[in-house]
Amino acid sequence: MCGIIGILGNAPAAPRLVEALRRLEYRGYDSAGVATLEGGQIRRRRAAGKLANLERELAERPLAGSTGIGHTRWATHGAPTTDNAHPHASEKVAIVHNGIIENFRPLREELIRAGHKFASETDSEVIAHLITDYLDKGKPPEDAAIAAVRRLEGAFGIAMLFAGGDDILIGARKGSPLAVGLGDGEMYLGSDAIAVSPFTTRVMFLEEGDIAVLTHNSAKILDAGGQAAERQVHVFAGGAAAVEKGNHRHFMQKEIYEQPETTGRTITRYVNAYDERVEMPDLDGVDLAADSAIIIGCGTAHYAGRVAEYWLEQIAGVPVETDIASEFRYRKPAFGKNSFGVFVSQSGETADTLAALRYCKENKLKTLAVVNVPESTIWREADARLPTLAGPEIGVASTKAFTAQLSALAALAIAVGRARGAIDAKEESRLVRALMETPRLIADALHAEPEIDAIAQELSHARDVLYLGRGAHYPIALEGALKLKEISYIHAEGYAAGELKHGPIALIDEATPVVVVAPHDALFEKTLSNMQEVNARGGRLIVITDAAGAAEVGDIASHIILAPACDPFVAPLVYSAPIQLLAYFTAVHKGTDVDQPRNLAKSVTVE
Ligand code: AGP
Repeated sequence: MCGIIGILGNAPAAPRLVEALRRLEYRGYDSAGVATLEGGQIRRRRAAGKLANLERELAERPLAGSTGIGHTRWATHGAPTTDNAHPHASEKVAIVHNGIIENFRPLREELIRAGHKFASETDSEVIAHLITDYLDKGKPPEDAAIAAVRRLEGAFGIAMLFAGGDDILIGARKGSPLAVGLGDGEMYLGSDAIAVSPFTTRVMFLEEGDIAVLTHNSAKILDAGGQAAERQVHVFAGGAAAVEKGNHRHFMQKEIYEQPETTGRTITRYVNAYDERVEMPDLDGVDLAADSAIIIGCGTAHYAGRVAEYWLEQIAGVPVETDIASEFRYRKPAFGKNSFGVFVSQSGETADTLAALRYCKENKLKTLAVVNVPESTIWREADARLPTLAGPEIGVASTKAFTAQLSALAALAIAVGRARGAIDAKEESRLVRALMETPRLIADALHAEPEIDAIAQELSHARDVLYLGRGAHYPIALEGALKLKEISYIHAEGYAAGELKHGPIALIDEATPVVVVAPHDALFEKTLSNMQEVNARGGRLIVITDAAGAAEVGDIASHIILAPACDPFVAPLVYSAPIQLLAYFTAVHKGTDVDQPRNLAKSVTVE
């Protein structure tokens, strides 16, 4: 996902643009660039690779000017080269773009026929030339921008800078988020609140189809119909601080350690600790007593949904179907008569999940989003939402958002259980009490860090790793494997422990570590048999369990990672911490880019 910043300022823009782009690095990128107005003329500096390359370019060839735009690009059309880096520009206008222009080819051909010269392979460049074409025909910047944007098809967030326009900056949003930051005699555009957090805490989020026309002291917003519109001003008090690492080496480590706080914040949003009951917000017609439910997401968010499937079926007795968003709508799913859809997403911008949500709405399903980014597209388009209060998650590998998703989904499972009459007040109290203990239990689980760090040192030499789990810890095993894969680049697979003997056991040898996620619950004895099968074949076992489990595992495990004893209901939340730390320290020992792993983006806004 690309990052956008625009500054209509009163101080040198270039360093401020780079500072904002640094806050957007977490989104994943492979080139970057800025443009400013120097004496009314557009001047650009761009560089492939990391921001350090752009900073080097700016040190060698500085840019003056207090108005500018900047961009971090995650390549979709065209390789991550300097020529393809944004901003794209003509003599008259420079633009930065996040998203995909689906009709860029016919537009490019039309503009080439009209004499425009293209310098890149990107879809985005057509925006600059299309606006220029309208400027050439005599339209003023605002009208030229509106005319051009209305011809674009696809998803985009755009910031536009005009030659000779020291007091105008224009933004457009359709499908990709764009925020307006309100300063004192300055205005800003950004992909999200984090982008503008170095300059302001006052932010407006554009709606689908909005165009924002900014001057130093005004922000005019036109809606999709071209009518003047008002947008709510949000205040993000924790803006800048929220994106600092604190005393941690990486954002991912900081976010792992924030989980006692972030799960606590999310849980207390949905439970009344005094009455020991769950309290759901207005769900706008989502019927929690429905006959069935579907839970959709991608990657880690999908695994949170897989855990919730166990909770909903075991606590509420409601049939649940989970699926990965990219498969869901293409298999033409059959919907239950009285069902609702749950869409799990940290960013709220994942294209596959958003498309699945829209598909369900077309099929008249009520939709409930479990989403972390306020005002994101999934947040807005769902009928109702259960916000996860994890705060900005900077590390590309999702950690605190995952346990916040589990926190909200656990509260939802209890609410559905009550709505369906499947649990009484006594059982509800018991489950809520277990939930309220979770933040402390996660903090306890994090105390295993030194042991995990030592084990990770060994794991960092592995070529392949297996993760096993049963019941609600099968998706936790899947999540553990994904965490390891995506930040250490070691191949890992998660399996239902009971599946081992149906094939994967052929992989077991002394070179293939097997991580087993096994609290001492009703399924433990079964999983212990699987551990013995691994041990009998010389496999190296790393077992994550509690004291009771450790006593039974004994010396068949090469390593035991101790987790606190806890109610089986909340164990998936608690056991997330050690699997996250295991992946984190393995990546640290391997020396990979923990916060921005290769090839990955924080949110995949393309299908
Ligand atoms: C998680 O560690 C991954 N970075 C990725 O699988 C992510 O969970 C997935 O892309 C879904 O993103 P979302 O939660 O923002 O929708």
